[in-house]
Amino acid sequence: MRTRPLLIAPSILAADFARLGEEVRAIDRAGADYIHIDVMDGHFVPNISFGAPIMDSIRGLTKKPFDVHLMIAPADPHLESFARAGADIITVHAEACPHLDRTLQAVRAMGRKAGVSLNPATPASVLKHVLDRLDLILVMSVNPGFGGQSFIPAMLEKISEIRGMVGNRNIDIEVDGGITRHTAGDAVRAGANVLVAGSAIFKARDYAAEIRAIRAAATSVAV
Ligand code: DX5
Ligand code: ZN
Repeated sequence: MRTRPLLIAPSILAADFARLGEEVRAIDRAGADYIHIDVMDGHFVPNISFGAPIMDSIRGLTKKPFDVHLMIAPADPHLESFARAGADIITVHAEACPHLDRTLQAVRAMGRKAGVSLNPATPASVLKHVLDRLDLILVMSVNPGFGGQSFIPAMLEKISEIRGMVGNRNIDIEVDGGITRHTAGDAVRAGANVLVAGSAIFKARDYAAEIRAIRAAATSVAV
């Protein structure tokens, strides 16, 4: 099985929004690989975060890829505005896309990488027939809507199952929710290679030290 690089994706949902630009520059300098952007609509998830104009306003501040996690339903009418605002990866929720295959084709047709996210209760099997349209699979390890929740251990089994399904395909497996230096190792051992972390990084005094600690915890496990 292919070994993929380990990537850390700080979620700006946990940033100080009054200083968002500085926060983005700070995580860039601190060693973030991706900038994880949580878009919430108050409908698919019980919270509202921000949309494409805010994303566009920070796009010029970093060259790091924008990893955009759309927690919105419907997603289809908004794909283009996120692509235009500088998304590199656009991840939709399987539960929010009745025509998932078509949605993934639309994302790739815009020249962006296509991702699918699964809520904790959604089985891995929904991915089975769209694997060849995917660049990334995002396993939610909390119920989406809020930062600062605890990692759901039952998601480790789902990550391993997905790792097996993916085989040698060129697909990243990302895990999102409750990732800290204490949970990162288990997630990577199960098969994840992209780790989203919101509160763990933004609540730390030293972002770079925290990113290093998560990376060290993740790389210390043998995969
Ligand atoms: C949850 C979001 C996550 C969240 C992670 O709905 O998708 O990306 O920001 O936050 P932490 O790391 O605090 O669990
Ligand atoms: Zn997210």
